[in-house]
Amino acid sequence: MIEERGNKGLHWPLPIHDYWSTPFAESLLLHLDVCSGASIFDIASGHGIPAFYLAEQVGSTGQVLAIDLSERQVENARAIQGALLPWLRFECLDMRALPQELPCFDRITGNLSVMFLRPNRFDAVLGLVGHLNPGGQMVLTFPSLGTFDSLWRRIDREMAVHGLLVERRRLEAYLAERPSAEEGYGWLDKLRLTRIVVTEYPLTVATGPGQAFLHHPLLRGGFLDDAYECFDDQGLADEIMTRVSEDVESFTPLIAQRCVLSGWKP
Ligand SMILES: C[S@@+](CC[C@H](N)C(=O)[O-])C[C@H]1O[C@@H](n2cnc3c(N)ncnc32)[C@H](O)[C@@H]1O
Repeated sequence: MIEERGNKGLHWPLPIHDYWSTPFAESLLLHLDVCSGASIFDIASGHGIPAFYLAEQVGSTGQVLAIDLSERQVENARAIQGALLPWLRFECLDMRALPQELPCFDRITGNLSVMFLRPNRFDAVLGLVGHLNPGGQMVLTFPSLGTFDSLWRRIDREMAVHGLLVERRRLEAYLAERPSAEEGYGWLDKLRLTRIVVTEYPLTVATGPGQAFLHHPLLRGGFLDDAYECFDDQGLADEIMTRVSEDVESFTPLIAQRCVLSGWKP
């Protein structure tokens, strides 16, 4: 694990107690070739995973531009940074519509980014590669198709028992829209990147039943909210999800796929 073998002596390690972003960032770092003096463009940077870590790696002769669509996230990241690592900059930008004047970088990274490249993910990746230097590497991660499938099947079964056709159709559409590892490979291949590597690392997410599941810090505010959004009637959503939460044994272990897309610009 990078957190154990790579974080020693670092001022800006990946946070050990982040049980979602950090495991994804660890998989990203397994594939990223990072060296001192490099310029890095980190997309969907949130509050700085892995931008802070990367800034420490490239050092003061390098530079890291980290962008996020959310002003609040950018403000959070800047507050964490304070006056440190002056070669790292957080800016508010949409990674799907980058300004032409944005320079090219030696590396592009994006931890937990690919799902937010919608609706036209290929065009968004094309736009990113336009800002990669020749000989540069891009490494993106995301939870790929297959993530938490046992949970989705269980929710679908509960919807079916209650004859909820509209909700089932919405859930099906949501699931079909998720990007897959194969799709990711196809984008990099079509863009003629070389040394393409697409790998999935399973990540088991532990949960208890009932409220522990319904208010799980990692699932709520993300995946579970997506399930609730399939319902017009939130009372009904509560009823269905409560039944699901009482039956966690039927869909655990909950497994996410940490997909890493890596490719080099010729
Ligand atoms: C799951 S978080 C990942 C943040 C960070 N990389 C991490 O690993 O913790 C995804 C981030 O993408 C940002 N985001 C969503 N759509 C975006 C877009 N179109 N352009 C830039 N950032 C975007 C969100 O605001 C959010 O901070």
